[in-house]
Amino acid sequence: MILDSLRSVITFRDGWKFTREAAAGMEAADFDDTAWQDVRVPHDWAIAGPFDRENDLQITAIFEDGQIKEGEHTGRTGGLPHVGKGWYRLRFDLPEDIASRRVRIEFDGVMSHSRVYCNGEFVGSWPYGYTSFAFDITALVKPGENILAVSCDNKPHASRWYPGAGIFRHVRLVTLAPVHVGHWGTFVTTPSVGKNSATVHVRTEISCGLPRESNVELETVLLDPEGKQIAAIKESRRIAADAVFEQQADVPSPALWSIETPRLYTARSVLRVEGEVVDVYETLFGIRTLEFNPLKGFFLNGQRVRLNGVCMHHDLGALGAAVNRAALARQLRILKDMGCNAIRTSHNPPAPELLELTDGMGFVVIDEAFDEWHTGKCDNGCHILFDEWGERDLRALIRRDRNHPSVIMWSLGNEIREQTDSERGREICKFLHDITHGEDPTRPTTCGFNCADEAIANGLAEVVDVPGWNYRPYAYARYHAEHPEWPMYGSETASCISSRGEYYFPVEDEKHPVRENLQVNSYDLSSPNWASCPDVEFRGVDENPWIMGEFVWTGFDYLGEPTPYYRQWPSRSSYFGIVDLCGLPKDRFYLYRSRWSSEPTLHILPHWTWPGREGEITPVHCFSSWDTVELFLNGVSQGKRSKDIKNLLSKYRIVWNGVKYEPGELKAVAYDADGKPVAETAVRTAGAPAAVRLTPDSGAMAANGLDMAFVTVEIVDADGNLCPRADNLVRFAVEGPAEIAAVDNGNAATVEPFIADYRKAFNGKCVVYLRSVAGRTGTVRLKAESEGLTSGNTHWEAQPPEE
Ligand code: GAL
Repeated sequence: MILDSLRSVITFRDGWKFTREAAAGMEAADFDDTAWQDVRVPHDWAIAGPFDRENDLQITAIFEDGQIKEGEHTGRTGGLPHVGKGWYRLRFDLPEDIASRRVRIEFDGVMSHSRVYCNGEFVGSWPYGYTSFAFDITALVKPGENILAVSCDNKPHASRWYPGAGIFRHVRLVTLAPVHVGHWGTFVTTPSVGKNSATVHVRTEISCGLPRESNVELETVLLDPEGKQIAAIKESRRIAADAVFEQQADVPSPALWSIETPRLYTARSVLRVEGEVVDVYETLFGIRTLEFNPLKGFFLNGQRVRLNGVCMHHDLGALGAAVNRAALARQLRILKDMGCNAIRTSHNPPAPELLELTDGMGFVVIDEAFDEWHTGKCDNGCHILFDEWGERDLRALIRRDRNHPSVIMWSLGNEIREQTDSERGREICKFLHDITHGEDPTRPTTCGFNCADEAIANGLAEVVDVPGWNYRPYAYARYHAEHPEWPMYGSETASCISSRGEYYFPVEDEKHPVRENLQVNSYDLSSPNWASCPDVEFRGVDENPWIMGEFVWTGFDYLGEPTPYYRQWPSRSSYFGIVDLCGLPKDRFYLYRSRWSSEPTLHILPHWTWPGREGEITPVHCFSSWDTVELFLNGVSQGKRSKDIKNLLSKYRIVWNGVKYEPGELKAVAYDADGKPVAETAVRTAGAPAAVRLTPDSGAMAANGLDMAFVTVEIVDADGNLCPRADNLVRFAVEGPAEIAAVDNGNAATVEPFIADYRKAFNGKCVVYLRSVAGRTGTVRLKAESEGLTSGNTHWEAQPPEE
């Protein structure tokens, strides 16, 4: 390992050894780990399975879901083997001059109760798996070989969703000169922002361990989004110990950060001791204004923006909780295409990569800290850590994330149980709120309240700057009338449930449906008791203009929480997603797109392949950007309909309830305001499965061992129509520089493994996730074979990664 004289950052990705055994002495420098498994970090030990109903089976009554009696909850945390212990060990070399350097080990998150050792010595621990943390290991390292060991211990009944297992985010070794910018040591704010000029303030914490006072100079260079230097501020002081520098500069004609144009500036901190450069550190930031107006909603740079938001859990479906930037970017691309502009990181600190992407792609973010404070929802949930660790976790979150322009609010908690406990709830909330404002006076605090009436009555809700309401569209008007001074929004909305491509008749607005096949109707009218269909939430936002917008539960399906099939194994992932677990849009995607996106949308459901249902009523719903649509069945008009503002179920969708099924073509034609036909879409009755069709999401991937290609697999008939109920088994073979990372089909009720080179289609589709191989470029070819069908083939290029 070669370290240059300045800051050096090495990501510890390869070369880790791992075991699920746990024995005394595994931290010892000379412990023999040769028999352990070779793994790469980020790593999630549980995602390979196998699924089992006994994995973290929880016997409980979920208060939030209105359950009174205790009962079995299978699949609540995904049915994967994440509970238990795991050990990691890594050997790394350091050069001779390491004695003159400071050495820090940084973890972006370890699930959970981690204990870190270096060369056999205990370094420190961090129990809450979602928090990023770092330790100074200067005193423990030596030139030559060093050993890092990390133990994890996942307790049973610790979560309401799949937490993942192990070192699931990145680990870095950072070596520094004795004088350097501290860990998360910069805080960039913009105290004034105008059209012609913005003031940028940079607060920099310098870690300084000098034997005697020396001249320390901090030069902060501001670079515009094109990388051009626009300001430089210098300050020198004679110091020997840690110090804080406050610097300020004006930026003329600032390029504002916004959802459409997410422009990022850089603050480059250059530290010199006695004239010699000892550290260079860069902070990305944005220049933008936020206003949370109690009467008019949310304003970004003076423009009203309706928050078209989704809540997202941290897992990446078949890839598990091991963070992967390409998979996160894919999620965000899909959400952006829907017109989504906001993410709530429910209910815990996200991986840092998420915020790097939201900064760069243009999403605003509610960064959430906790799902529990002092009172638990799960026996071993994060409430068991709250007294000792809550403050540290919150400070770590804010210090890590406060320079991200995409972050607009800090959420102190989701549906915390203290909502109904007057004294303590208010007190804890105030404590967290004050910590938050101490660390970052520029952003408001929020919480997601489901017991909103109680939280308002007992004074808890008024502690946060912007209360969020979970599932309260019908109460927005009342909350505003009672508290016109509060800005407010829907922190959790809809919780509509569906399975991609599943349709049941008659179509009903169903509460808590239960079907033997463990699937849910995809007409987007099904929801658990506390929730509602999207249309109700849209109306809530439209009729209450002070509501800043909504955060739909959820953007993507996630592992665990298989409501409404709490007890019905093998349901093991959610039905709440607008997009399914493998990233394929459900019908509802187009309902949101028709409302949220400026791009035109015209989508009809259901599919049109119903052998044996000839002559039966088959309702057709259309999600359209246009207000008027005519439906044709085999060329015969079924009526021209317009959205009807008086009728909720025709206000945001257009419905033909009386269509009688006959095979052929179902076509929708949209008309503009002048009555001109402007767009059409059709579904056709499919014949027997004939071929496998492959569609990669892009023509290239970077050969860095991290980038991914996501290939959609479809079973089609001889004319290329999707076979909407096909469940053919497909086998995959890759040639060239890529490997299959996972496979999935979005079926929430199957125990087929994610790590495999085969998958059954679910309602005609599945997805293969392929990962590049570091340093290997060239053409990647994927072949998909299924018995009796013409194989699918596709290819794309693995290219040299950008510097
Ligand atoms: C909310 C909760 C979410 C999820 C959701 C399902 O009460 O905050 O985490 O459980 O319900 O509808």
